Amino acid sequence: MIVDSVILNAKAYLKGQITDCCIAIEEGIIHKIGKETQMPNADQKINLHSRLLVLPGLIDTHVHLRDEGKAYKEDFTSGTSAAAAGGFTTVLDMPNNTPITMSAQTLRNRIETAQRRIVVNTGFYSEFPQTLPEIKEIANQGAVGFKLFMGDQIGGVNIDDNTAITEALKATTEVKLPVAIHAEDHTLLATNEAKLKQAKKTAPADYLRAHTKEVERVAVERIIKLSAKTEAQLHFCHISTKEGVATITEAKKTQKNITCEVTPNHLMLSNEEVERYGALAIMAPPLRDRLEVEALWQSVNEGLVDTFGSDHAPHTLEEKQANNIWEVKAGIPGLEVTLPLMLTMVKKGKLCLEQVVSHLAENPAQIYGLTDRGYLKAGQAADLTIVDYQNPFKIDASKFKSKAKFSPYNGWEVNGKPVKTIVGGQIVYEENEVVAKGGTGKIVRGGAR
Ligand code: DOR
Ligand code: ZN
Ligand code: ZN
Repeated sequence: MIVDSVILNAKAYLKGQITDCCIAIEEGIIHKIGKETQMPNADQKINLHSRLLVLPGLIDTHVHLRDEGKAYKEDFTSGTSAAAAGGFTTVLDMPNNTPITMSAQTLRNRIETAQRRIVVNTGFYSEFPQTLPEIKEIANQGAVGFKLFMGDQIGGVNIDDNTAITEALKATTEVKLPVAIHAEDHTLLATNEAKLKQAKKTAPADYLRAHTKEVERVAVERIIKLSAKTEAQLHFCHISTKEGVATITEAKKTQKNITCEVTPNHLMLSNEEVERYGALAIMAPPLRDRLEVEALWQSVNEGLVDTFGSDHAPHTLEEKQANNIWEVKAGIPGLEVTLPLMLTMVKKGKLCLEQVVSHLAENPAQIYGLTDRGYLKAGQAADLTIVDYQNPFKIDASKFKSKAKFSPYNGWEVNGKPVKTIVGGQIVYEENEVVAKGGTGKIVRGGAR
């Protein structure tokens, strides 16, 4: 037999261990992993010279790819190029777009636009639609999950209406799709904001005063309570406080199907960066103080966190630089820094490699039902993240593939540069460049459809 390609002299992450091996790939699938003598002949040989680490293709379940009406911030080409450059082979796209992804039609249009442009595999969330029957239509159209923004009215379900939210959660159990939650309580947030605005407070620090820890806790508590009778699958996005994680951990004891994500930003940065960089470092939820950051690390190390998501949220520099903090767009690009930041923490002994792989590949695959991804083994999709873990490098935001070429991490020295990214058996990124055509990535559909 002659297979499409064989990767030689890999140091691959197999069953929790780094193993010297070779990987044969045929028709986009991992055909065999073994010694060189066990490898079939191949059309293409990729020799890693026992220097590079091979991880299962990473999955970022929290990415804002924008495009359509927000293509000036990011489009499917630039966003999935940033993913490839960051070592991500699959990304899940958030629905707060223009138009908002919240119907079968808007989802269909989005998939059609993305299809020929994506260089990594891409799945799509939908906001809740205006009517319950549409939940099934959206699921049939291939959504990977629903998103509920609790901080602001975005989707079709009134976020002040407990009954409506409960009904929507129930409907997701029928289509067996998870619900990703942005847990910030909009009532509390709006009250805090109104007070600060009235007092003419417009500085970056005032944004932090509005988005308090309580804002997160109240939203987490509320949605857990509402979901208790529904058996809905909840995945909490970007939890930023120890108390948030603790509330979720407590709920996990009685409710199965609850998981949570932390972003590298809330682990690597603190409100000191808001003092240093001002509005550039504004995101929702915001950066917390050093004590809280340490407490969040403790939660990670106690095994209470399930995934790392980049919350890649590109904006233009102009949008980040408005004078009045209430007009600044929240969020920063994350796809091209997440893996190096997390691997640097492994080097520093703050994390172990097992956590990086479980939180960026295995658990995301499991939570979103992507059963053919997340692990390096025969039969899985040939999605591989190949990393230089030895040589440190400097983050250079001006070289980002993302349209958002700024970062509070600019100039940081880190370890773990993605050097080759393979999607469905094809090299999509190597030597700092995207080398695949748009359309090399495939549309990922939810619920193993
Ligand atoms: O910082 C954020 N940016 N938080 C969100 O919830 C939305 C996101 C965005 O879309 O820019
Ligand atoms: Zn969010
Ligand atoms: Zn987000």
